[in-house]
Amino acid sequence: MNHADASNFASGVTKEEAYEQVLMQAEGLFYGQRNWVCNLANTASLLWHAYHSLPPPSNAVNWAGFYVLDPSSTPEKPQLILGPFQGKVACQTIAFGRGVCGTAAAEARTQLVPDVDAFPGHIACDGDSRSEIVVPIIVDESDTEGDAKGKGKVVAIIDVDCTVVDGFDEVDQLWLERLAGLLAKSCDW
Ligand code: SME
Repeated sequence: MNHADASNFASGVTKEEAYEQVLMQAEGLFYGQRNWVCNLANTASLLWHAYHSLPPPSNAVNWAGFYVLDPSSTPEKPQLILGPFQGKVACQTIAFGRGVCGTAAAEARTQLVPDVDAFPGHIACDGDSRSEIVVPIIVDESDTEGDAKGKGKVVAIIDVDCTVVDGFDEVDQLWLERLAGLLAKSCDW
């Protein structure tokens, strides 16, 4: 099997099965590779192809990727910076606390947004996006240097957008949180 085959998802599988394949392929690709740019880039590709192999609403995903903690920001004023993704060009930096991504990062909690127009402060990088899910990637304090909060550090977020309302549900949340856990332990942040 060559690397590109990891992006082949059979049609007719359930969302759970597609996510299971994403995690299995990701684990294989991360073997012997801890560089976060490399691993997030391949994960964005896996997610993109998985969503587009599924029936609606998942195949209406128009953005799938990552923002990472901006190393040039300070602990007093942390911000996210655009990481690897699939989809259209997006906002470059987002302050913690701003928009869906910044809220997930500041609260260290998943934001499942059925209708972005109902989310105060949603940042419309792409006017086509109607729903969104953002999942924080949290590394144990013991794995990072200088984390003052004592409950782990948000090093990045997974962001997925969809062009229809209610594009995501608890199944997406469960599997993306599993993926976040895998990424947290599989990369050098
Ligand atoms: N909508 C996001 C901004 C990032 S883009 O969707 C890629 C937000 O409100 O944080």
